[in-house]
Amino acid sequence: MNKQEILNLLKEINYPGFSRDIVSFGMIENVEIDGKNVSIALKITTDKDEKKQTVVDAVKNILQETNAFENINVTLTNQGHTPPPTQQQKAPAGPTPVEGIKHIVAIASGKGGVGKSTVAANIAVALTQKGHKVGLLDLDIYGPSLPIILGFNESPKLTQEKKLIPLDRYGMKVMSFGFISGNETPTIWRGPLVGRMTEQFFKDVLWGELDYLILDLPPGTGDVQLTLTQKLRLSGAVIVTTPQDIALSDVRKGADMFRKVQTPVLGVIENMSGLVIKGHISGSNDAKMDIAGIGDVNVDENGDFEFQIDIFKKGGGVVESDRLGVPLLGEIPINKEIMDATDNGKPLVLSNPDSPVAQVFVQIVDRIQTILQS
Ligand SMILES: Nc1ncnc2c1ncn2[C@@H]1O[C@H](COP(=O)(O)OP(=O)(O)OP(=O)(O)O)[C@@H](O)[C@H]1O
Ligand SMILES: [Mg+2]
Repeated sequence: MNKQEILNLLKEINYPGFSRDIVSFGMIENVEIDGKNVSIALKITTDKDEKKQTVVDAVKNILQETNAFENINVTLTNQGHTPPPTQQQKAPAGPTPVEGIKHIVAIASGKGGVGKSTVAANIAVALTQKGHKVGLLDLDIYGPSLPIILGFNESPKLTQEKKLIPLDRYGMKVMSFGFISGNETPTIWRGPLVGRMTEQFFKDVLWGELDYLILDLPPGTGDVQLTLTQKLRLSGAVIVTTPQDIALSDVRKGADMFRKVQTPVLGVIENMSGLVIKGHISGSNDAKMDIAGIGDVNVDENGDFEFQIDIFKKGGGVVESDRLGVPLLGEIPINKEIMDATDNGKPLVLSNPDSPVAQVFVQIVDRIQTILQS
């Protein structure tokens, strides 16, 4: 067996609790073959020992079953989390964590208008509702939309040291280019300026202690994305897409860009996935409707009914997220409530937390948290 054959074999092992394999997670640090001896070095950054042991055992077993080797040596190259650098040791070059912020999660998309800002705002609110300290930063300097989605537009105050104090909204700390520019679309921004602006949103904003900072990125893979990923250590990126775009190279391009700069892609969210129709027929109970192209739809004893039209091909999200080797975090239908929530400046998770769509956002947040903790 050669190295590639071993890697292909190891791809059959999923990381415990995930539908993603240990190879695509980047956990195989080294494979060495010497005749009948094989050594595999694993790098698993969890502090849960039993998860590590499960992976080590699975690797040993799958290699034993091939009967290709007499000695199989599986080692872990790091034990637990990497300790913070001491004063003698220099911190590694490259992106640095932002002091006081535990997790920075970027919400990205290949193209515009797919619902990034909507998703970012609802994720941030859902995390706040779970009792976390949350910041929400709108980095879309070409067309900031958080002032609209959150229904307010105030100028942030400056401290004596010329630091910006983020605004408080729905229990979150919020900062948007719109607050500074008066929500006017800036004329032409040049790359270096965009980079500097992006950096300033971290250096010159008093975020304080945060569990999560959610970033609403501009669409595409431009200057903001580059500056961010070069300068800051992101916990991960979430890619938002629509069903008709999910198989396009945009999503892959985005995923590739984040991977190249060692930013894990936490998953894909398929937005505007199908249209849910709800209604009521008066004077009827336990009826059945036959809708062309949909089939039978039940009407309950109150005369209420609900069905979903999949305007675009269904299931693209599952296939594509599999192909990218990242989980599908959720599918959000086209929903008038989401649009109304935007118009009213109050994200759906806040204005109607019990609605099924709000619950989808809550599930997405649960999944993101599980991935970040593993
Ligand atoms: N699931 C949905 N159902 C109905 N409307 C939606 C849904 N998701 C987003 N929208 C609406 O679509 C519009 C675009 O959404 P949003 O501004 O979040 O997209 P975006 O990706 O941030 O866009 P941009 O690239 O311009 O920043 C908004 O009016 C929003 O209310
Ligand atoms: Mg936006």
